[in-house]
Amino acid sequence: MSGICYVDGQYVAHGDAHVHMEDRGYQFSDGVYEVIAVYGGKLVDAGPHLDRLDRSMAELGITPPGSRSALEIILRETMRRNRLIHGSLYLQVTRGVARREHAYSDGMRSVLTVAPRRATPPVRSASLNGHRVISIPDIRWQRCDIKTVALLPNIMGKKQAALAGAAEAWMTDAEGMVTEGTSSNAWIVTQAGELITRQLDHGILPGITRRAIIAYARERQIKVVERAFSLDEAKQAREAFYTSATAILRPVVQIDDAKIGDGKVGPIAKALADVYFDALDNV
Ligand SMILES: Cc1ncc(COP(=O)(O)O)c(C=O)c1O
Repeated sequence: MSGICYVDGQYVAHGDAHVHMEDRGYQFSDGVYEVIAVYGGKLVDAGPHLDRLDRSMAELGITPPGSRSALEIILRETMRRNRLIHGSLYLQVTRGVARREHAYSDGMRSVLTVAPRRATPPVRSASLNGHRVISIPDIRWQRCDIKTVALLPNIMGKKQAALAGAAEAWMTDAEGMVTEGTSSNAWIVTQAGELITRQLDHGILPGITRRAIIAYARERQIKVVERAFSLDEAKQAREAFYTSATAILRPVVQIDDAKIGDGKVGPIAKALADVYFDALDNV
């Protein structure tokens, strides 16, 4: 990676972007983050992403690194310095730097870092290939609604998927219900044509793309039900897909050994991806 990053008050070359040895993010995963897509030189859904960042910080008692408007200026300046047209910004806020102790002091000065990532612009047809997912047990903590940098179960799960030649792993809770993907929200379309995604609770991240897709589906009179669904139900679904800010919408044509629907990308996934892309063009 090259480019200019923002590190705790300064813009620095990527190779010089270092954080302190005793940053609690580094030592304890004591931090939160966001990934905001950049499309056509604009941030996609910046407001909802920054709202979620605020909530994550509030839930963990992390002091915000500055005002919302100051943060927006830093994001825009990072894009400008990198001439970032398509890709994403990764922003992370850790509780701050202190002598290593589990218990933290209240009101520590948090540390904000922002890194750009360039990507080729999403292409409609390319994003609509069918993907395979595997299922794995969800071994994460009980506050998956907070977007923390503590992602060990997620990265181990994604690696397991990669080793199995799959694009994503869907995690299942103790009752056999799908929670979400390791870096995405999970969806199915039932045989009755209802679009299902798990309800918001402590078990999943409230995805910003999930929120947008729900709104687009409802605008198009597609019935959306936010409820838990089992792995078995998913395997018998007519369609399945997953969403995230960078992946947008990825159709799923196989879960473990089960073919989904006719094994091809389904019409609802296609329609929703198209609506999402249309909206991106008007960001
Ligand atoms: C565990 C998890 N669930 C869901 C999502 C999707 O969220 P969003 O649509 O805001 O990118 C992500 C994104 O990184 C994630 O890590």
